Amino acid sequence: MIRLDISKIFDTVSKEQIYTLESEAQKCNEMLHDKSGAGNKFLGWLHLPSSITTQLKEIKDAAAELRSLCDIVIVIGIGGSYLGTKAVVEALNNSFDWLQERNRRKNPVLIYAGHQIGEDYFYELFNLLKGRRFGIINISKSGTTIEPTLAFRILKRRLEKEIGKKKARQRIVAITDKTYGALRKLANEEGYKSFVIPDDVGGRFSIFTPVGLLPIAVAGFDIRQLIKGAITMEKATDCAVPFTENLAVRYAAARNALYAKGKKIEILANFHPKLHYIGEWWKQLYSESEGKENKGIFPVSVDFTTELHSMGQWIQQGERNIFETVISVERTDYKTTVPVDKTDRDGLNFLAGKRVDVINKMAELGTLLAHVDGNVPNIKITLPKVNACYLGELLYFFEKACGISGYMLGVNPFNQPGVEAYKKNMFALLNKPGYKKESEEIRARL
Ligand code: PA5
Repeated sequence: MIRLDISKIFDTVSKEQIYTLESEAQKCNEMLHDKSGAGNKFLGWLHLPSSITTQLKEIKDAAAELRSLCDIVIVIGIGGSYLGTKAVVEALNNSFDWLQERNRRKNPVLIYAGHQIGEDYFYELFNLLKGRRFGIINISKSGTTIEPTLAFRILKRRLEKEIGKKKARQRIVAITDKTYGALRKLANEEGYKSFVIPDDVGGRFSIFTPVGLLPIAVAGFDIRQLIKGAITMEKATDCAVPFTENLAVRYAAARNALYAKGKKIEILANFHPKLHYIGEWWKQLYSESEGKENKGIFPVSVDFTTELHSMGQWIQQGERNIFETVISVERTDYKTTVPVDKTDRDGLNFLAGKRVDVINKMAELGTLLAHVDGNVPNIKITLPKVNACYLGELLYFFEKACGISGYMLGVNPFNQPGVEAYKKNMFALLNKPGYKKESEEIRARL
């Protein structure tokens, strides 16, 4: 199982201070389980791992169908509708998979769209898709989010133009709400294969629904292992598990104790280049869940050692309002050793014969010690290896801790009212029907 070490925060907060938060953190975990807290209509994710198992066969069958028809599958979605998939697929994939020629690749390539509004991106994507076998997984719970809705309209037209409406229908899967959303109506009318995002699961907590599981299975990864890991963590973070053994409760208590001491920024760092998008997924989870009512730890993510040569300076010597959570990976998949060079002009012979990962691990340890010396409290999460099972554990761990931590902070972690502000202005500026008054008001400001 993954492990959590909070011993390197005790220069900033004492063990006693953490333990005074114990009962509060445990209570917040119970609030999730007995559904007595804010946002309690959105707690379906709590038991998703153990309940989704009955759907896995249908998801795998739909993935097999798309895999047989497509070389490229475009995953349309924004926020929670795509970040979990991207995080898992990037973590498990060969770093250069997309550069392999088709005959050397077993799996379709996933490409993302509807996660921004770049016009050039569409143009370049059209050029790439010309003459290739592509399909679409369209993901939107509401069905009205502008970015994915726009992308689907454009890409659906392109696919239908290339292969006709009937064949296109076989290569489109919709993942949306059960009854009400615009995408549900469209999927029913067009006869697309579809999956349901349960009403009680919000986007950023939806990785263990078809939202994450279908595209991950299309990409060729073992969703049963992912769910197996998530189930392990579902059990390990249950409210009956005592504080000292409950990773999610301890992490939530530690970060709230640090926040109370003025550590307003949490930096999630990794020393494994495939974990970049785990950081992006984590940022969305914690920022949309906690950043409200003028409160919340600001989540930032960094990739080390790359960013030790940029952000590293700030972290070592900038304002002391930060703490760091490091995801450490114990074992790599493959071995590469440093060769001997007779001339030793680069001065690296002291490393000859050593594994590259040994050097990486010393960089990690050296950084930890330097940052702790620089008054950056450190939380360490250890993954024995990057595989589907441990990723399932990690993702569920972060979700659970996020729910607890949000309640400790005193906010509703399951809404995102602030996201509406930009949408309202954008629709007013674009003269969307129903926005007449807002359009007049916003134009008067320009
Ligand atoms: O976490 C959330 O709820 C959001 O990030 C949503 O996932 C995102 O806004 C996409 O919404 P929808 O699935 O309705 O298109």
